[in-house]
Amino acid sequence: MKKDFLCLTDWSIEELEGLFALAADLKARQKRGEQHHLLGGKTLGMVFEKSSTRTRISFEVGMYQLGGHALFLSSGTTQMGRGEPIKDTARVMSRYVDGIMIRTFSQQGVEELARWSSIPVINGLTDMYHPCQVMADLLTVIEHKKNYREQIYCWIGDGNNMANSWINAAVMFGFELRVATPRGYEPHPVVVERARQRGARIVYTNDPLEAARGADILNTDVWASMGQEEEQAKRVTAFNGFQINDKVIAAAASDCILMHCLPAHRGEEITDEAIESRHSVVFDEAENRLHIQKAIMATLMA
Ligand code: CP
Ligand code: NVA
Repeated sequence: MKKDFLCLTDWSIEELEGLFALAADLKARQKRGEQHHLLGGKTLGMVFEKSSTRTRISFEVGMYQLGGHALFLSSGTTQMGRGEPIKDTARVMSRYVDGIMIRTFSQQGVEELARWSSIPVINGLTDMYHPCQVMADLLTVIEHKKNYREQIYCWIGDGNNMANSWINAAVMFGFELRVATPRGYEPHPVVVERARQRGARIVYTNDPLEAARGADILNTDVWASMGQEEEQAKRVTAFNGFQINDKVIAAAASDCILMHCLPAHRGEEITDEAIESRHSVVFDEAENRLHIQKAIMATLMA
């Protein structure tokens, strides 16, 4: 049976921890210059319906380092953009490639693609989740903090795909998470309800300073995600006060780390000083996309 990577809560804690271990091993081997062609001769199809810098580069480079090959397929230049059904695309791609990474709008669309594919499908971001990013971020916390499951995590900003993914991570790993959003921009109700049912330790608030108090990890993301560009002006007003800045950092633990999946809008959700400060680990997160995704691909496609 093939397996997909669509949402953190589809996997077991043991499997997710296995990904951290494999990623750390592959990272060490890459740094030592040792070959690790776990996917020799294999091919990944990368479908993009939204823009990307990190996701595209890290998946493509990752496949190369694993001895395989990756194809960039933008929806605008394939028949997908002209309405070819997902279930047909899935079965056609399954005849050519060994795995699919997709970045798109609808999580349901990704689930449909996975249902009709006989090969593994990896979620490279939807409006609902960004599971590869949260795994890269947790790998980064593991590198910077002693016990990642005992840290206090704080999310400040939009209740978007990254916030939903952090809630799923709190469900899986059991750490304390505080989520501060403006009213009307809370995380997805389905995600919140699942977390409640599974007994996750999550506090929801509209007060960023209260959320940040004593926190070990501060995390944020853009106020307007891809697809919400026309809401930008309205959101800048709604998110007033939800910026990670000196005041928020001062409220957190003195050795807190500051995370952002990037790209960042300096001066909006985070100040330039904050992202350049000693607390910031944003480029470690970006690098770890490569290592965790190699672990995900090797686990699913070998
Ligand atoms: N963080 C992230 O997914 O970046 P890209 O949009 O550049 O891929
Ligand atoms: N929330 C952002 C993340 C980008 C990596 C978006 O969906 O645009």
